[in-house]
Amino acid sequence: MKMKLISALVLTLMLNASMAQKFEKMALTPPMGWNSWNLFACNIDEILIREMADAMVATGMKEAGYEYINLDDCWHGERDSLGFIQPNKQRFPNGMKALADYVHSKGLKIGIYSDAGWKTCGGHPGSRGHEYQDAMQYAAWGIDYLKYDWCYTDGLKAEGAYLTMREALFATGRPMVFSLCEWGTSDPWKWATPVGHLWRTTGDITHIFDGIDDHGTWQSLGILQIIDLRNNDTIRKYAGPGHWNDPDMMEVGNGMSTSEDRAHFSMWCMLAAPLISGNDLRNMSAETKTILTNKEVIAINQDSLGIQGYKHTKIDSVDVWVKPLQNNAFAVCFLNRGKNSAMVNFDWATNSFNDTFSGRKTDFTKESYSLNDLWGHKKIGATKKVLKAVLSSHDVLMLKLIKE
Ligand code: GLA
Repeated sequence: MKMKLISALVLTLMLNASMAQKFEKMALTPPMGWNSWNLFACNIDEILIREMADAMVATGMKEAGYEYINLDDCWHGERDSLGFIQPNKQRFPNGMKALADYVHSKGLKIGIYSDAGWKTCGGHPGSRGHEYQDAMQYAAWGIDYLKYDWCYTDGLKAEGAYLTMREALFATGRPMVFSLCEWGTSDPWKWATPVGHLWRTTGDITHIFDGIDDHGTWQSLGILQIIDLRNNDTIRKYAGPGHWNDPDMMEVGNGMSTSEDRAHFSMWCMLAAPLISGNDLRNMSAETKTILTNKEVIAINQDSLGIQGYKHTKIDSVDVWVKPLQNNAFAVCFLNRGKNSAMVNFDWATNSFNDTFSGRKTDFTKESYSLNDLWGHKKIGATKKVLKAVLSSHDVLMLKLIKE
């Protein structure tokens, strides 16, 4: 019986493989969800994942648009005698299919993690040489999203390795979002649009606003370091519906101050970044919840044009970011990088926008836009007047500009 099933699956794989591509019409706006790594690392089990799915619904995160519950590294057990990967039996005694069914019963989707190399970064079995089997297994479990890492890949070329997994996923016939995680090492933005739906642009994030955490052989990066590491003005042209630059999963709620969390979240929205929360959804402070579920700010991230924002100018410690939106609107984010509060004195008339990538321009000397404060939830004037505001250290003023 098992052999018959396997032959039928292999036949389906062979038929589908002849027209391999990535799954189109997925992730048309940046994916939103939760991932276990940033806070829980290897301490995951099925109870935690189920509770996180429950919390995603109970906290209003689902209602705000978060959809994926993603397991990261360390869910793995061994491969069975036929080579099919199994979950760790102690941590996932009811198996992945039951867990996926549970997550689906909440109206959510489930993601899993593997690695293009021989082992995952945490030392568990990688997919190298088992790509089709792993993809078949994920599809049989009902998985909706795969994050695919890049440890233990000595001698491999990223584009080829990720193409193999793309084809293996496509061959299953079950649409899965494909998240490339090779840390921007081989400029994935240049080749990954036909391969996957998002690609990491940097090494790992940490919950420091401005600084790095040195682990000896590698470093994790603070929020400002991630924003600065890639020249976003250069790589933004590679992002768009179905293919996103991924500056890593979020650290909101994991130890930074409220203003730092707010600035981090605002900037991820400006960058059209995937919004994958990495905190404990079961125990969120009111501030964390307010940040992660701000629908007006999320709408900037989820704007259907999918244009990644760019740095328009810098005035002392304040960076001014602009993101063109549908209906001739714009999002503007004033980011105070400094340790002290800063005065914003911004004359729109001498700061008209000219985005050569999107072709979107403004002439603030001739046209007026209302200024809508997306954290204060109120209109604060219009571009006809000089904007004056005080920005706390490591905080933002985030505006939506609507043509009057
Ligand atoms: C790498 C990835 C992280 C996480 C860990 C898991 O460091 O970049 O996001 O998946 O592996 O081991």
